[in-house]
Amino acid sequence: MSPNDQMNESRSKTGRGRIIAVANQKGGVGKTTTVINLATALAACGATVLVVDLDPQGNATTGFGLPDEARASGSYQLLTGSKVEPCETIVPGLKFIPTSVDLVGAELELVSEGQREYKLKAALEPFLVRFDYIFIDCPPALGLLTLNALTAADTVMVPMQCEFFALEGLSHLLQTIERVRAHSNPDLEIEGFVLTMYDRRNNLCRSVESDVRAHFGAKVYTSVIPRNVRVSEAPSFGKPVLLYDIGCAGAQAYIRLASEIMDLDSVPPPVSHGGATPRQFSRASEAAE
Ligand SMILES: Nc1ncnc2c1ncn2[C@@H]1O[C@H](COP(=O)(O)OP(=O)(O)O)[C@@H](O)[C@H]1O
Ligand SMILES: [Mg+2]
Repeated sequence: MSPNDQMNESRSKTGRGRIIAVANQKGGVGKTTTVINLATALAACGATVLVVDLDPQGNATTGFGLPDEARASGSYQLLTGSKVEPCETIVPGLKFIPTSVDLVGAELELVSEGQREYKLKAALEPFLVRFDYIFIDCPPALGLLTLNALTAADTVMVPMQCEFFALEGLSHLLQTIERVRAHSNPDLEIEGFVLTMYDRRNNLCRSVESDVRAHFGAKVYTSVIPRNVRVSEAPSFGKPVLLYDIGCAGAQAYIRLASEIMDLDSVPPPVSHGGATPRQFSRASEAAE
């Protein structure tokens, strides 16, 4: 069965896509990078993917190379009940709702409203029949924007940087997830923990990895994302790393993570010389040229 067939089959079982909030209240752990590149890898496998930039900093909006005009209508409008049509990106099959300048004020404005944590859930409902995956890039805080994301989501994905403080503060996120389950989204599940910026030569990284795996077991993806300079360069070219340099270790790791998430064993593992370019990725490679 081809990846596309598997994708169609999995969605046809439920008739709706899955909303994945990518959250961790720490900044700089790889949330935005994971959203951009995992979404791209899934789209390259034939999935229809929507990315919602819910961080007022707009790093995902910049990372997809969207012009400032695109920020006129985006996640603020979604939260305040306006109709928003996602814009195209350079990745076929991947659409995007950018951040908008007003998002900074949205948390304050929403505070006095009833049902305030359900705004995003209501706004995303119509998209569930159009997309296989909807990723929400959360801001580095556990405020009302993240609560909206967790209330709207089926699952939450947690990127963790392999550093000494990786587990610190995680209890706040887990408590917040429990609170959301108790109040606004009883079905919220953990999609998985992604280890990012991993350096195999670094003892500390390896010990953080074993701690995280000991704590969270099978919820930690087998695929880890290595620290890779190409991954950090790509946003300045307004491109996901898969379109910037598909052969680099970072791009290959995100392909592997996408394959793990789709439960596809058919996508070959990454190879150091970058030769693993599955047929499904040719569209993305072409778009990069
Ligand atoms: N695998 C990686 N290798 C190298 N740099 C990375 C990697 N992942 C993320 N970065 C860099 O780390 C910084 C923080 O990543 P980002 O995804 O913006 O984190 P967050 O969204 O959690 O704040 C960015 O400059 C990004 O380019
Ligand atoms: Mg970010």
